[in-house]
Amino acid sequence: MAAHIKIQPSNHEFWLEGNDAILDAGVRAGLALNYGCANGNCGLCKARIISGKVKKTRHHDYVLSEAEKNRDYVLMCSCTAVSDVILEALEASSENDIPLQKIATRIKRIEQTTDKILILHVQTPRIQRLRFLAGQSVTLSLDKKTGTDFPIASCPCDDRNLLFHIPCDSDKPFVQALIHNSKKGDTITVVGPHGHFLFNESARRAQLYLAYGTGFAPIKSLIEHAMALETASTMSLFWVADKKEDLYMNNLCRSWEDALDNFNYHPVIDTDAVEYLLEKHGNLETVDVYIAGSETLTHCASEKLLAAGLPDAQLTLSTID
Ligand code: FES
Repeated sequence: MAAHIKIQPSNHEFWLEGNDAILDAGVRAGLALNYGCANGNCGLCKARIISGKVKKTRHHDYVLSEAEKNRDYVLMCSCTAVSDVILEALEASSENDIPLQKIATRIKRIEQTTDKILILHVQTPRIQRLRFLAGQSVTLSLDKKTGTDFPIASCPCDDRNLLFHIPCDSDKPFVQALIHNSKKGDTITVVGPHGHFLFNESARRAQLYLAYGTGFAPIKSLIEHAMALETASTMSLFWVADKKEDLYMNNLCRSWEDALDNFNYHPVIDTDAVEYLLEKHGNLETVDVYIAGSETLTHCASEKLLAAGLPDAQLTLSTID
């Protein structure tokens, strides 16, 4: 059975299949619902039923007061819907609504994509998942000395499995320790999230993404989040590299273009990326532009785009060390 869930006051909607917890279905659908443990202990996922029926799917240690029960409060992590439901629930609308978290994760896999980039897969404990907004970063450390910031390259809709794109040529202690002394199962401490490179969900303008090298990581998170939200806006990705081989997830980008009517992919090699982007999208007043990459490249690109008429409020930047 599938139930339709609507959240107020945002009016966000999603579908829940079978016995899924309302929280899990909402997070998978890209909503930034309020929660903590996802396990019935903290009470942060408390929500009020406005209409419809839910049922408890497990015992929870957090105790709702009699007053809360009488006012139809439930824990979204511990109940499912048995009919279409309208709920009043808190959602994060900015980075300030998400608490700083410190989580001991495990290395699930270290994948060598090209000789220049590693993809690091880490997994959080089931009862301590990372709440973050698409495009944000965290600090990763293997021990107390190696803390380094990396953008999260995965979608908040999968809050247990976090991905990072690690440049192998970096001399940062974290990267060296990861390459030379780490293996599956080792602990990586994640502290975060932080950063303001966020998706402007309310704008509903076409989205242009300009990624330089591993600037693709936070942009991948934004694009996957937009896909989870099933945004109808057109998305165009311009990924800039010195050589085609450096587009280390070229096949993924091509598969997005094949699967989605509203997604265009433009690999950019040996060409001025901003001029190429302007050729494809002359009218910058109707787009939001997201740029991620080194400080020099992102600032140079942003100056050119602003000079070409992009309104300042429609530009979002992420600089990667
Ligand atoms: S998220 Fe902690 S009780 Fe639901």
